[in-house]
Amino acid sequence: MIQLVVGMPPTSNFAGRDIVSVRDLSRSEIDHILDMAEAMEPLAKIGSDMLHGKIMATLFYEPSTRTKLSFESAMTRLGGTALGFAETKGTSVEKGENLADTVRVVENYADVLVVRHPLEGAARMAAEFSRVPVINAGSGAEEHPTQALLDLYTIKKELGAIDGISIGLIGDLRYGRTVHSLAYALAKYKVRLVLISPEILRMRKEVLEEVSKKIDVEETTSLQQHLKELDVIYMTRVQKERFGDLAEYEKVKGSYRLTSDELARAKKSSIVMHPLPRVDEIDSSVDSTSHAKYFPQVGNGVVLRMGLLGLVFGAI
Ligand code: NCD
Repeated sequence: MIQLVVGMPPTSNFAGRDIVSVRDLSRSEIDHILDMAEAMEPLAKIGSDMLHGKIMATLFYEPSTRTKLSFESAMTRLGGTALGFAETKGTSVEKGENLADTVRVVENYADVLVVRHPLEGAARMAAEFSRVPVINAGSGAEEHPTQALLDLYTIKKELGAIDGISIGLIGDLRYGRTVHSLAYALAKYKVRLVLISPEILRMRKEVLEEVSKKIDVEETTSLQQHLKELDVIYMTRVQKERFGDLAEYEKVKGSYRLTSDELARAKKSSIVMHPLPRVDEIDSSVDSTSHAKYFPQVGNGVVLRMGLLGLVFGAI
C-alpha cells in the first residue's frame, strides 16, 4: 500500500464504497476526494503501481468517449487493468440479459464496476446487486457524479476556491445529468447559482427544490444579462437523445451559442467549462481565449478518477 500524506487526515472511509450520487457525499468527503485528485497529479505523469493486480470493469450501455477512456486511463496509470464493453452489441444484453444478472456475472471478473446506463436508478440498482463497489458513470438524465467531482476540481484549480463564486449553468438543465450532479454538489458550498435555460429545459424540479433550500439560486432564460457577473460559465449540450418528441428539440436546439465576441463582456478572470461533447453551444473562436477550460477539464477527469479509484480500493 502506498501512503500519500496530503493535508487533512481522511474524514471518512471510502474503501469498498459505492459512488452512486453526489448527494451521498458530505462536503468534507468531496473536499477529501479533490485533495486526493491533486495528490495524483504527479503520479499521472510518472505512473504508479498502487492498484497493481486490481481489475476495473466498465459496463457502458450508452455512448461515451471521455468518461470511459478517462476511467481506463486512470486505472492504467495506477497500475491496474481495465476491461468491459462500450456498447451492448455483441454482449448477452442482446440475448435479453438484465442489468442485475450482468452485474452478478461481471463482479466475478473485476474488483470495481463502472456503470453507464440510459435508465435513471440503474447505477443504484447495480450497486444493490453487486458485491464489489459500483461507480455511477451516468444514470440516464439523472446524475453523473464523477463529472461533478471533476468539475469542482477544475473550478478549485482554476479559481483557487469554490466558495464565493457565481456560477451559471447554461443549456439543457432538464435532461443534462451533469448539471443535476453539479448543482447538488455546489449546494454544499457557498456559491451563487444562476440557472440559464430555455423555458422547456428548466432545471428539474426536485434538484431545484433541494438546491434552493441551501444556496442562492436564480432562474432565467438570458445568458446575455448575466454573463458579466459569472465566474464560471458552464455550457451544456441540448440532450437530443432524451427528447420524446424531436419537434420539441428543434425548438430549443442552438438556444445558446457562446462566441469570443460575447466573452469580451465577461469578467476577465471568468472560465468557460463544458462536460463535452459540444455541438454548437461554444463557438470555436472561444477555444483560443484564456477563458476556455473545457479541454484542461478533460485532463482533470483523469486525476480525479485516479484519486477516487485509489480511495474506493482503500489504497490511499
Ligand atoms: C456528458 C454525459 O454523458 O452526460 N458527457 C460526459 O460524460 N462528459 C454530457 C453530454 O453527453 O452532453
